[in-house]
Amino acid sequence: MLNADWLLFNASIFLTMTRRIAVVPGDGIGKEVIPNALEVVRATGASVEFTTFDWGADRYLIDGTTIPADGFHMLARDFDAVFVGALGDPRVPTNIHAKEILLGMRFKMDLYANVRPVRLLDASLCPLKNVTPDDINFTVIRENTEGVYMDMGGNFKMGMPEEVATQEDINTRKGVERVIHFAFKYARDNGRKKVMMSDKSNVMTYAGGLWQRVFKEVAQQYPEIQTQHMYVDALCLQMVRDPKSLDVIVTNNMFGDIVTDLAAALQGGLGMAASGNIHPGRTSMFEPVHGSAPPIAGKNMANPMGSILTAAMMLAHLGLNAEAQKIENAVLDAVREKKTTVDVGGSLGTKECAAWIAERVAK
Ligand SMILES: NC(=O)c1ccc[n+]([C@@H]2O[C@H](COP(=O)([O-])OP(=O)(O)OC[C@H]3O[C@@H](n4cnc5c(N)ncnc54)[C@H](O)[C@@H]3O)[C@@H](O)[C@H]2O)c1
Repeated sequence: MLNADWLLFNASIFLTMTRRIAVVPGDGIGKEVIPNALEVVRATGASVEFTTFDWGADRYLIDGTTIPADGFHMLARDFDAVFVGALGDPRVPTNIHAKEILLGMRFKMDLYANVRPVRLLDASLCPLKNVTPDDINFTVIRENTEGVYMDMGGNFKMGMPEEVATQEDINTRKGVERVIHFAFKYARDNGRKKVMMSDKSNVMTYAGGLWQRVFKEVAQQYPEIQTQHMYVDALCLQMVRDPKSLDVIVTNNMFGDIVTDLAAALQGGLGMAASGNIHPGRTSMFEPVHGSAPPIAGKNMANPMGSILTAAMMLAHLGLNAEAQKIENAVLDAVREKKTTVDVGGSLGTKECAAWIAERVAK
């Protein structure tokens, strides 16, 4: 077979094969929004097969399991993607299960790029004045495996007046370099024009210095992409004052965590925000940005759109672009027609909102 024919042959196998997706609804509203999002995916007719795992607080409280011993290996070996709801439950005050499952996936599966698209679907969702959907359309790429999340540090003389606490911020050249490359490739592949690196290098001089040097070096390999730098405090101001100026932002784990909650507010709140935890070429994990929201769990109140948009992001990542687009269009229709939950101005419950979207997708 000729080379081009061979490529087409392989591409057609990829397009027709069934994608295997591991599903971890988790805790609280995760157990409501995820099954509803799966119904929306089924309505697209996508060739996908779901396997649901009961990892979360309930399972932990029954038998102490957070994730089985070979869990991460099994996910990487047997699945094309992982779809997670949220983890966190007041009955487990240490949050140990959430840390082991969620941070375990990010660290042990080495999902080093956390991708959070920030797109305003309708002006009515944005708390800013005189802003249209054209004004808010940027993506934050958050480093996902290093920084202060590595749990390094300690306490000395705990509980005494002289107590000392340290928390280390770990930044490796490899870690910084690969996430900055990811951001430039993301910009190039998605028709974006600018990549901004955001840090606090005026104060955190050692870690920030590494990010600064690597950003300048890596940028030289992508001459078609403009570069910018902004301190993270100034970026917060800019996100509110002139979000239109933003395009692709790459930043560290902690700053990424903080700025993406602000970004979620710009697009209608935590219930609207989607994310992917990605290592190109490996099994990646997709989750809505919100947590388990215990006060509204089990009340059919949670907004399922963040999970539904996350599912669309996962399908696009798996090459199912038409199905992903159908979902995005249906969510947009739901927002415009106010077929939404209360948090974004509608009057529907979780199930009814998702069912409306599934029906629109199936049309
Ligand atoms: N990725 C995750 O799994 C993740 C992320 C954040 C927090 N958590 C955990 O979740 C628990 C609660 O944390 P929190 O209160 O700080 O954050 P949260 O995201 O659960 O809730 C913050 C606020 O947003 C609201 N909210 C969140 N998602 C919503 C939705 N889909 N629809 C409507 N309203 C929604 C909540 O009612 C609450 O007022 C904690 O145990 C925390 O550790 C988990």
